[in-house]
Amino acid sequence: MDRYAVFGNPISHSKSPFIHTLFAHQTREDISYEAIAAPIDDFQGALNQFLASGGKGCNITVPFKEQAFAAAQKLTPRAELAGAVNTLKLTDDGVLLGDNTDGAGLVQDLKNHHVPLEGSRILLIGAGGAARGVTGPLLAEQPTELVIVNRTVSKAEHLAELFAPHGNVSAQPFSELSGPFDLIINSTSASLSGELPPISAELVRPETAVYDMMYGSGTTVFNQWAKEQGARMIIDGLGMLVGQAAESFAVWRGIRPGMKQVANELRKNLG
Ligand code: ATR
Repeated sequence: MDRYAVFGNPISHSKSPFIHTLFAHQTREDISYEAIAAPIDDFQGALNQFLASGGKGCNITVPFKEQAFAAAQKLTPRAELAGAVNTLKLTDDGVLLGDNTDGAGLVQDLKNHHVPLEGSRILLIGAGGAARGVTGPLLAEQPTELVIVNRTVSKAEHLAELFAPHGNVSAQPFSELSGPFDLIINSTSASLSGELPPISAELVRPETAVYDMMYGSGTTVFNQWAKEQGARMIIDGLGMLVGQAAESFAVWRGIRPGMKQVANELRKNLG
């Protein structure tokens, strides 16, 4: 049985063991998957121990994604662009490969919800690690324009510059945004404190789909607000979580599990 794990701190609430165990059942792959709380100051030590004891691959979550990036011996192009690694794989020739499946998970979830990306105008709110992870994969879907807006404008400008070679991407302050947008994605951590990013209600139009990368047992604060403004559809980040996991599983095992049943099970468990 091949051993996999997710590293984070804290990690006890991680849904990844649940998701990957269901994937393993579904695909009949003989794997184990556990949650490991790495010490805040010794991710590398915990990772080394895991690999020395036969670990074949792992997911990495907050706050270790940048350290995992540094630990990888080789990076996929999408991990390099993201500047962070959420998936490590020990290849057959013993190389520790770093990948990032977060953006692919978001794109897959948007496709599962039939949200058109090619030729669309997208607003991405936030310019932190979560935003950086999805910018490359979103641009690869060839939207006509991707606008990044952030409270700290310089961070949005930095992201837009970084990704300029990959598509039509620009940065704007909240005060200068003008719609319409086909899709608005909230990547900020504002929801964690029950806050809304300061975007104008007028940007949410009847043709606008809204995606909040957060999820919880009920509708997120951002999605509730978007619904009240008349958004055409609201989607939360649970599908992205399952999507990034499915993509990691495919990286490790070469087989892509289905997302729907697992997302439904997970939703039920949120209560
Ligand atoms: P993550 O890895 O989740 O992206 P992060 O790198 O700390 O976390 O980034 C958090 C993002 O949420 C940032 O874009 C942050 O804006 P700033 O760059 O201006 O700090 C944004 N954010 C957090 N709280 C916010 C709030 N109350 N209103 C608006 N944006 C907020």
